[in-house]
Amino acid sequence: MRPTILFFLLLLLIILPSLLYLNYSIIQTSEEAITLMPEIDNNVVRGPVVMPQLKNSTIKAELGQSSWKLLHTMMARFPEHPTQDEKEALRNFIYLFSRLYPCGECAQEFQAILAKHPPQVSSREAASQWACAVHNIVNKRLQKEMFDCGKIADKYKCGC
Ligand SMILES: *[C@@H]1O[C@H](CO)[C@@H](O)[C@H](O)[C@H]1NC(C)=O
Ligand SMILES: *[C@@H]1O[C@H](CO)[C@@H](O)[C@H](O)[C@H]1NC(C)=O
Repeated sequence: MRPTILFFLLLLLIILPSLLYLNYSIIQTSEEAITLMPEIDNNVVRGPVVMPQLKNSTIKAELGQSSWKLLHTMMARFPEHPTQDEKEALRNFIYLFSRLYPCGECAQEFQAILAKHPPQVSSREAASQWACAVHNIVNKRLQKEMFDCGKIADKYKCGC
């Protein structure tokens, strides 16, 4: 047999099918990565509230103040121009925070607010304004004083 014919036979019988198979398995894997992973993540990240009711109102109020401080300070220090990864990290954190917040009934309220006011994670400014607006929704229900969101950057300093 001439070497060229042998080469083409080899190509047809061995190399081409294995290339095709390799290509197929790469496509399979990337499709799985695209379709399966976000579903798994979403089930965890967007799941229901974990903790039961928090009955002691003193502990509840202290927890609330500390948590708002944490949230507003986090937004004040969030990147002005976040990467896609940083945006997703903040979004997922907020949803997980709403699941794991130690006061169950507060977490329920927070999840209901999130459903109407999804986290804004495109920039430090957007995230800060979102947290301020959400805080004011809770302030209103508790008949507390509303905060002027134009002054949020003065109240919660970046410290940078
Ligand atoms: C491999 O898959 C791509 C699509 O992802 C396709 O365009 C290409 O033609 C395939 N290559 C072979 C050798 O089948
Ligand atoms: C609520 O918690 C505070 C702080 O731990 C405690 O001093 C208080 O006695 C608790 N109140 C009730 C009704 O258990």
